[in-house]
Amino acid sequence: MQRLDQFLSAQGLGTRKEVRKDIRSGRIAVNGQVVTIPEAKIDPARDAVERDSVRVTWSEHVYRMLNKPAGVITAARDPHQRTVMDLIPPGRKGIQPVGRLDKDTTGLLLLTDDGDLAHRLLSPAHHVEKVYEVQTDLPIPPDAAARFAAGLELSDFTAKPAELAVLQPGFARVTICEGKFHQVKRMFAAVSVNVVALRRISFGPLTLDPALPEGESRVLTPEEEEALKAL
Ligand code: URA
Repeated sequence: MQRLDQFLSAQGLGTRKEVRKDIRSGRIAVNGQVVTIPEAKIDPARDAVERDSVRVTWSEHVYRMLNKPAGVITAARDPHQRTVMDLIPPGRKGIQPVGRLDKDTTGLLLLTDDGDLAHRLLSPAHHVEKVYEVQTDLPIPPDAAARFAAGLELSDFTAKPAELAVLQPGFARVTICEGKFHQVKRMFAAVSVNVVALRRISFGPLTLDPALPEGESRVLTPEEEEALKAL
């Protein structure tokens, strides 16, 4: 059994405060009866819960896309700094970021409580492609794309071949299929330019939703969820 407010926020319908307001204002029905008590107990797998007469389906796992802003760290918790977990609704135990973006990196971050899927997406064997927009301090050298494609030698590993599209002298899009620490920044440093802004715009089949403001998140659509699971 689970509390109604916890169930609704865990299903991605809003923060605890928002869903409690929905419940109190009579928008929520359980098995056809309006329930106005946020603490009411339900059985998520059996009871039919509706908001505004639309069924709230129960799913075992939750998958959220966050448009990460700069200045927050990618960690499940931290005693001193704001983390990406502070930007998503509470209510789902075990939800965690899939991989990591640096504190100053922005853009698409997936969070889920589906540990098996997270593991698959992060496994080097799966070569999940990530696309980043990169702004550099100096013009990107003309041979950079060929060097990225050949596999750059970094101090402790050789990066797998990456696709670099230089769109303006100091602006590019890069596609990599690994996720080593500071990888994109280190690859650009290896061709003698510094990354001054980095934004991830896609992760596997997921593309950053252009309607999602920085700092906000939403649950994946069923199509997005399916595409991820098909990887
Ligand atoms: N590469 C980096 O250098 N930083 C990130 O945050 C992601 C990829």
